[in-house]
Amino acid sequence: MNTEQIIHTFVEYFEERGHRRITGSTLLPPPGDPVLFTTSGMHPLTPYLEGRPHPLGRRLVNVQRCLRTTDLEEVGDATHLTVFEMLGTWSLGDYEGSLSLDWGFKLLTEGLGVDPGLLHATVFAGDDRTGPDTASQQVWQDLGVPVELTVEDNWWSNGPVGPCGPDSEIFLWSGNTPPRSTPTRDHRWVEVWNHVMMRHRRLEDGSLVPLPQRNVDTGLGVERLAALLQGKSSVFDCDVFDPWRRTVPDLWPLDEPSLRLVYDHVRSAVVVLGDGVRPANTGRGYVPRRLLRRVLTTLWRDDPSRSLGDLPGELFSHTLDHFRQDADPSDVRRLLLGEERRFGRLLERGSQVLARPRFRRTLTDEDFHYLHDTHGLPRDLVISLRQE
Ligand code: ALA
Repeated sequence: MNTEQIIHTFVEYFEERGHRRITGSTLLPPPGDPVLFTTSGMHPLTPYLEGRPHPLGRRLVNVQRCLRTTDLEEVGDATHLTVFEMLGTWSLGDYEGSLSLDWGFKLLTEGLGVDPGLLHATVFAGDDRTGPDTASQQVWQDLGVPVELTVEDNWWSNGPVGPCGPDSEIFLWSGNTPPRSTPTRDHRWVEVWNHVMMRHRRLEDGSLVPLPQRNVDTGLGVERLAALLQGKSSVFDCDVFDPWRRTVPDLWPLDEPSLRLVYDHVRSAVVVLGDGVRPANTGRGYVPRRLLRRVLTTLWRDDPSRSLGDLPGELFSHTLDHFRQDADPSDVRRLLLGEERRFGRLLERGSQVLARPRFRRTLTDEDFHYLHDTHGLPRDLVISLRQE
C-alpha cells in the first residue's frame, strides 16, 4: 500500500464514522501562535480543544504537515524526519478514548492489513496527580493486545502550558524475528499512532485543571506507517523517497547516513519554502537556511564542486505535489541556489577567519560561540573547515 492509499483509507474510514475533513495544512501556525512551525496535527486545533466550537463540528480528521527541529540530530535513524505528515482525528467533547482506540485497532488490522500479533500498546500508569488510565488498559486487554504501563512516555502536551493528558501509543513490530520484549525495552517496536485523552490544561504554576470538555486527539505518522506496511525498516525506504533514492546516489556517492540527511533536509527545505517562508538569519527563515547549510556542509566535505542545481527538477515537483503545495518548482530551485551561493561566500570568509593565529589551536566552546555569533559559522562547518 503506498502513502496516498494509506492517507485515503484513513480519511475515508473516519469520514464513514462522522468525521469532517479539515482542509489546508500549512506549516505556518495561525497568527498570534508563538511557535515557528506546526509541530503536530492538534496544534492548530488548540482553541477548539479548549472549548471553542469548531465550525465543522465535534468529529474531525485531517492530514497535517508538521515540522520538528527538536529531532534534527536524530535525522538519519530509521524513524525521524524533519518534515513529515501526520494523520489526525479529534473528538471535541464527543466520543471517549476507548472508542478511538477500538477504531484505531480495527483500521490498522482490517483496513490496513496489519497482523494483530505485531501490535503492542502503552498506557499511562498514573502518577501523584492523575490516576492510571484503566479504560485504555481495558480496551487493549479485550482486544488481546499486550500493554506496557509507563508514566512520562504516556503523557502528552504540546508545551509547558496548555491542553495535555494521558495517552495510549500503538507500536508496530519492525524486527525480523517474532515480536519480543516491550516498546520501552526494544527499539524495534516503532510508535505509529498516539491517542491522547486531552482532558487537562496545565497552568503556568504547573498545576492541572480539567478542560471544559473531554477530548481525544490522535496522530499517526504517515511515513513511519508506510515504511512498516511496505516491509521496510526505515522511513527513508518508503515510497515517498523513491525518486530520491533513484537519483541522488548516482549524482553524489555518499554514505547512507549522509544520503539520509540530504534527502530529509532538502525535502524539508523545499516544503518550508513551498509554504512561502524565505531564508533568513533569524526566526522561521533560519530553519530552511540551517537545513540547507547542513546539506551543503555534507556535500562539500568530499567535493566542493557539488551543487544543489544538479538535483533533478523531478525531486522538487514530486515533493511539492506530494504536500499539495502550489509553489512553482523553479522558484524553489532558485531560492535553493541563492542559499548555496550565499553559503559559499560565507565559507570563503570562514577560511580566512580560521587562518588567524588565534584559531590555530584547539578551539574552546567560547571560540565556537564567537565564530557562530560573529561570523555565522556553524560548529560542524568550522570542524570540517579545520580538517581540510
Ligand atoms: N498530538 C499527539 C501527537 O502528536 C497525537 O503525538
